[in-house]
Amino acid sequence: MLKLFTKINNTHFVHNYREMWPYIRPYWGRALAAVLLTIPVGAMDAVIAWALKPYMDVMMIEKSANTLWIPLLIVLFSAIQGIFTFTASYMNSWVGNRIAGDVKIKLFEKLMKFDAFYFDSTTSGNVMMRFNKDVDAACSGLLSNLKQFTTRFFSSVSLVIVLFYNSWQLALIAVIVLAGALYPLTRVRSRIKDINQKTVFTNAEVVTHYNEAFGGHKVIASYNLYDYENQNFDNTLKRVFKLGMKMIQRTGMLSPLMHFMVSLGIALVIWYGSYLIISKQITAGNFVSFVAALILLYNPIKSIGNSFNNVQIAFMAMERVFELLHMTPKIFDKDNAKEISEIKDVIEYKDVSFEYVEGKPVLQHINLRIHKGETVALVGNSGGGKTTLVNLLPRFYDVKEGAVLIDGEDIRNYSLHSLRDKISVVFQDNFLFDGTIRENIMLGNMSASEDDLQRAVECAYVTEFLKDLPKGLDTPIGERGVLLSGGQKQRVAIARAFIKNAPIVILDEATSALDNQSEAVVQKAIDNLMKDRTVIVIAHRLSTVRHADKIVVVNYGKIVEMGSHTELIGNRDSIYTALYQAQLK
Ligand SMILES: Nc1ncnc2c1ncn2[C@@H]1O[C@H](COP(=O)(O)OP(=O)(O)O)[C@@H](O)[C@H]1O
Ligand SMILES: [Mg+2]
Repeated sequence: MLKLFTKINNTHFVHNYREMWPYIRPYWGRALAAVLLTIPVGAMDAVIAWALKPYMDVMMIEKSANTLWIPLLIVLFSAIQGIFTFTASYMNSWVGNRIAGDVKIKLFEKLMKFDAFYFDSTTSGNVMMRFNKDVDAACSGLLSNLKQFTTRFFSSVSLVIVLFYNSWQLALIAVIVLAGALYPLTRVRSRIKDINQKTVFTNAEVVTHYNEAFGGHKVIASYNLYDYENQNFDNTLKRVFKLGMKMIQRTGMLSPLMHFMVSLGIALVIWYGSYLIISKQITAGNFVSFVAALILLYNPIKSIGNSFNNVQIAFMAMERVFELLHMTPKIFDKDNAKEISEIKDVIEYKDVSFEYVEGKPVLQHINLRIHKGETVALVGNSGGGKTTLVNLLPRFYDVKEGAVLIDGEDIRNYSLHSLRDKISVVFQDNFLFDGTIRENIMLGNMSASEDDLQRAVECAYVTEFLKDLPKGLDTPIGERGVLLSGGQKQRVAIARAFIKNAPIVILDEATSALDNQSEAVVQKAIDNLMKDRTVIVIAHRLSTVRHADKIVVVNYGKIVEMGSHTELIGNRDSIYTALYQAQLK
């Protein structure tokens, strides 16, 4: 028994609760009340068993009818027990859901601030399982399972007291057998930890499948991938099934085993108890009360195994939650981060090298100066590192070697907020949020005036298609903007960049997904956006960057040529000339 307690009270238990404490603290009163209520709820079982002794002895032996108080007592206690059980469940859910909500908010904040490396290496399913489901399992799950566990525990303890009250010899037998029944609990954790972990990750795969069926439905339809996707899904489900069965193999025997041990205890006690009665060492009342207590003990003990199991599973979820909470993004503000108020002079890449994967350089010794108000175009082979190069400026990733400087100061010394505030990025595929056109544009600058909005809409050529929409700016665009055409989405994104009014603009192949006609309008919108700003533009169509102040050819991670269009085209052997001529054909 002692060993059992030390095992249950092991470091995980204490450690987990200590970590959980800041989240429990705001609600500790109710949390404590919910746990304390489980004491009487559990203990009241014992009252019923205990009452049987006077009942039997007085009524059966002395043939006295002076025992009416006993049934009344039983009814009263059951009623109180019912009210307490309800209150405990209610408070438990209240506290559990509150805590889960608080933890989810913390985690959501964390999720958004994770660096691009994190998102590169995780899946949507993983995010849903670990940031959402694990929290439920950890918080509400833990409290409700803990409630069941403590109720059963206190019920067992009080019933054991009744056992001792009636006969210490019989009680001793019962307790020894019960301790044996509880022993397997000490090994639950190590038996299921690994399976539980795998189950969560496999369930994450299931969610990812759903997400892919949702996001990729057109590809699936056009390539007739139904069977293929079904097969993949089926394989994942099979693994979930296997893990589920493994879990049962390792834990399912627990309850039946305890059940068997308890029966064994009862058998022993009846056998020895009969002897004690015959030898007049205990009264019949003692014996009946004892057996009643033992039978009542039967239920909590055999299910304590399951609750304990669930508590352990909740703990594991909690550990995964804390693992996330302890993770720190690779990209974060320095303690004494500076605010950047404006860009005065120059953006400089100074001997910058970068790699996503250790040992596979993507950018090597990049040296580049971009003066305020200049437009610099990046061209070069696909996969050459252009996108990577511009991603270093808003610090989606940090350089491996060298530095990116703005006005001579390493951008890692600026606060992320102020740095990103100075940069608008328009990608090839811009994320639009579920909502209206107006809402999506206003995201660029929440405090923009109606005039600012109108100007942005005008300059980004959004007006052009607004007139066809019955609700105009207040037209909902669907999740990810699915209700708009590619060119319309791009213009909304450009309007969003407009209203942000950042001094630096990054354009990464903003028109390359579009047909010629929408490309022409979007290009006009882009030309507007570029006015009077410092611009880095990656263009797939070289004709659009002819007028750039500087054209930089990035091939295989290195800058191989740099100059104005006339300079570069002047050299008939330049890579730029070759690229340009290839496009003219
Ligand atoms: N998130 C990423 N993780 C790992 N490798 C990446 C990632 N993004 C791009 N790469 C690799 O880095 C190289 C440069 O990619 P990118 O900068 O997108 O090229 P470009 O924009 O010039 O076409 C490519 O080989 C690409 O496969
Ligand atoms: Mg690119």
